[in-house]
Amino acid sequence: MPDVSSLRAALLDWYDAHARSLPWRAPPGSATSTDPYRVWLSEVMLQQTTVPHAAPYFERFTTRWPTVSDLAAVEDGDLMAAWAGLGYYARARNLLACARAVARDHGGVFPDQEAALLTLPGVGAYTAAAVAAIAFDRPANVVDGNVERVMSRLFAVETPLPAARPELKRLAALFVSDERPGDWPQALMDLGSGVCRPKSPSCDLCPLAFGCEALKTGEPGRYPLKAKKAERPHRLGHAFVLRDARGRIGLVRRPDKGLLGGMVGLPTSDWSASPEFQPPVAADWTQAGAVDHVFTHFSLTLAVHVAAGEGDFLWMDGQEALAALPTVFRKALERGLAI
Ligand code: ADE
Repeated sequence: MPDVSSLRAALLDWYDAHARSLPWRAPPGSATSTDPYRVWLSEVMLQQTTVPHAAPYFERFTTRWPTVSDLAAVEDGDLMAAWAGLGYYARARNLLACARAVARDHGGVFPDQEAALLTLPGVGAYTAAAVAAIAFDRPANVVDGNVERVMSRLFAVETPLPAARPELKRLAALFVSDERPGDWPQALMDLGSGVCRPKSPSCDLCPLAFGCEALKTGEPGRYPLKAKKAERPHRLGHAFVLRDARGRIGLVRRPDKGLLGGMVGLPTSDWSASPEFQPPVAADWTQAGAVDHVFTHFSLTLAVHVAAGEGDFLWMDGQEALAALPTVFRKALERGLAI
């Protein structure tokens, strides 16, 4: 296997020619470092979703809240509504907690060292390393799923994920250097997403093919090996679309703790697969079909029921509700409004 420095040089040359242009990114080798607020925000969003899905959220957030202090000053509910559709809402709460900690404890300036970044709420090893490297050009071992995949292939690691994680992290650390430390992880991520893809990698386009052990085996797509996953359980529940005389929708604020905590939602039964359910108010409920949604740890079918009525709810008109609701409830509301 060729030495680390020729692999590094080959990938950085490739990055100079092929780097994706992304809204949060400084072009390769650029002298101006990237705003740490933009790097942090993009990394939190990208732990959640793909680049094309995150990009419009990123543009909206940075237009509305151009600095971390602007974000720190936002009301919780406004932030949750702006996050709707990005999923995993605990992250949105952590995002706000982190912005407030930077504003309050660091004078609105992100710390520029990995160790200090790690002390911020919601900032874990990945995000601290990514911000230190990309925003502050500090050598840091930035390891996400893309980097794990590239390492598992370069070294043909036979240990399956997730047990392979520490080994993949050690291998990634071999490449950390104080030469272009900010470009390096971004180059690896671009390689992972565009060339060394999970399925059918494009090895003919890969600048690291000359040193790739997985390619030599003839089955590069076999890596990284994965332990068999337990099946996701399936749950059933009922969601209620109540409309008042003005056509507004009756919503609830979900408890802070737990799934979709702090978000607005439709009233629902519990999600216990029981055919028994109790509507939130007595009304003439009609079934409007069902919607499916997949969460990280389970999948869910929600039967949707519609009625006209009044009650002690948070009332929003249809468009406002569709914008504020997390995806599972937006699907249910769309279903309810379609009849
Ligand atoms: N995925 C996660 N972080 C990324 C970044 N900074 N650039 C491109 N893709 C990414």
